[in-house]
Amino acid sequence: MSILLTGGLGYIGSHTAVELLEAGERVVVVDNLSNSKKEVADKIKEIVKGKVDFDKQFSLYIGDVRDEKLLSKIFEKEKIESVVHFAGLKAVGESCKIPLEYYKNNIDSTLVLLDVMKKFDVKNLVFSSSATVYGRAKSMPIYEDFPTSATNPYGKTKLFIENILMDLYESDKTWNIVLLRYFNPIGAHDSGLIGEDPNGIPNNLMPYISRVASGKLECLSIFGNDYPTKDGTGVRDYIHVVDLANGHLCAIKKLRTNCGLKIYNLGTGVGYSVLDIVNAFNEVCGGKVKYKFVERRPGDIDVCYACADKAFKEMGWKAKRDLKNMCQTSYNFEMKNKK
Ligand code: NAD
Ligand code: UD1
Repeated sequence: MSILLTGGLGYIGSHTAVELLEAGERVVVVDNLSNSKKEVADKIKEIVKGKVDFDKQFSLYIGDVRDEKLLSKIFEKEKIESVVHFAGLKAVGESCKIPLEYYKNNIDSTLVLLDVMKKFDVKNLVFSSSATVYGRAKSMPIYEDFPTSATNPYGKTKLFIENILMDLYESDKTWNIVLLRYFNPIGAHDSGLIGEDPNGIPNNLMPYISRVASGKLECLSIFGNDYPTKDGTGVRDYIHVVDLANGHLCAIKKLRTNCGLKIYNLGTGVGYSVLDIVNAFNEVCGGKVKYKFVERRPGDIDVCYACADKAFKEMGWKAKRDLKNMCQTSYNFEMKNKK
């Protein structure tokens, strides 16, 4: 049996593919390359070389999840046991500029996927959700039963999809669905072969810092130093992408227990400020990250971190890697892939 990863050549999907292959699973990927490259599959192959029979354990389909014919063909050909649905557009700022693209891509792809899964009686799904569904949480840490809300089209697509999945489960309790709410994934694979490589100027903190460290960008702008935090800069729950990838293995195992619908935060439970990240990064790169303070970024919140106890209690999952490793692997990836 195989596990289908939609968007499996992307940042989180590719790391999850590696962990699944190394755990002996068979992996099928469908990706339309809208935010990734076909060569990522070669990198995955290189990482698992000698440990895994890649040609037997891995299949790749280049195409769109909204293409129902393609998806049906995949389900006909491959014996799919469960699906991890990563595919989607994810840039908050962009989603405010082209909301219809976000609704079309993220929601339509999920509806087509669910229809095809139903048709082939494959009712096991892990969905990539986000801490963004908590909006401005009333207190910290954030627990899974906190109220949800969304303030931008990207966040709304995550919330709508969560609701669609809840309705689906209410209508048919034979589905097993795990909603994973990721906090802030950063870091890269130890090999330096795969990592986060956004097009253009990065919006998110870690890719921006990496590019300042490698000399591609001049200086980091820190958005606000007047937040009510220990040093005035925003605090987030950064989690290493390999830890996050392992959370998906645990979620797949959870599906195999006929778990019904479950929701888990995937974070470390620890909040770091922007200055903590800059200082930790400077330790690994020899102080190359210059920064200046600028105005707050509209829409940002001051503090956001998870309570990750539920994922540990119910799936045995816990993040293991520390901030230094997150910075070290991000820097290593950036330097190895410097163009
Ligand atoms: P990513 O952009 O690197 O990966 C997404 C992949 O999906 C890309 O390879 C892209 O080409 C593909 N894709 C997009 N639309 C598609 C479609 N219609 N058909 C086929 N392939 C399609 O993003 P990521 O960081 O790996 O995120 C994966 C998922 O996790 C996304 O759903 C994202 O919203 C969610 N998420 C990400 C973060 C984060 O900070 N990275 C945080 C919370 C949630
Ligand atoms: C972003 C997404 C959010 C998603 C989350 C998880 C935005 C606006 N939000 O959140 O939907 O769920 O990732 O990955 O993109 N910062 C700077 N300078 C920069 C970039 C960021 O100071 O150049 C600061 C921000 O103000 C924030 C922190 O760094 O305090 C993290 O920012 P970022 O990496 O963009 O993530 P989030 O805003 O937490």
